[in-house]
Amino acid sequence: MALWAIGDFHLASQVDKSMDRFGLVWHHHEDKIWKNFHAMVKLEDTTVITGDHSWGHKLHECEQDLLFIENLPGRKILLRGNHDTFWNANKTPRLNERFQGRLEFLQNNFYSYKDYALVGTKGICYEGRDSYEHFEKLLEREIKRLKLSFAKAKEAGYEKFLMFLHYPPTSLGEEESPFTRIAEENGVEQVIYSHCHGAARFDDSFHGEVRGVTYHLVSGDYLNFKPLKILD
Ligand SMILES: [Fe+2]
Repeated sequence: MALWAIGDFHLASQVDKSMDRFGLVWHHHEDKIWKNFHAMVKLEDTTVITGDHSWGHKLHECEQDLLFIENLPGRKILLRGNHDTFWNANKTPRLNERFQGRLEFLQNNFYSYKDYALVGTKGICYEGRDSYEHFEKLLEREIKRLKLSFAKAKEAGYEKFLMFLHYPPTSLGEEESPFTRIAEENGVEQVIYSHCHGAARFDDSFHGEVRGVTYHLVSGDYLNFKPLKILD
């Protein structure tokens, strides 16, 4: 039994989109995902997939991609990425109902693996694309969502936490952020994030241990689409 993580499949079964501009690693990447999951992940395993699942905008444009994910071996828990417009955060219970027994959607809730609570939210980092005021608004909302995930896990009695984000936990050049502080304050063992594509962005945030918390980047292209084992 194992817990795995990987993110940013950016599947495009129903829309015309390609990730080829991010390098050869994306060539037929869905075949790599399929092959690697079947070689590495067992039926009793759990994988957290850290967002940017599909290029489709509406749910009906993502159905083939979600079916692809559903058909990968083991239990799959999905996190929201910045491109997951099919997923309205406030309507997460509706998605969980619709995909019951097939996929689980992590937002304003938590899941568990052994005695660990799997908490998380999309997160946010400042990428200079938008005004700083807008970023602060999004940051505030994401912090609230993350705290809610922790509160629910604690209410259920969990004391050990793994924290999942789509965005890196820090903006470029930051040594700390509200996300790293929340991780430290709650004794989180590992923070797992993705979103960064292409070698130039792989070092945007933390790798390895920082102030007692271990950080892992699990972008699909960073891992050459092999899921990363988080726990046995
Ligand atoms: Fe992303």
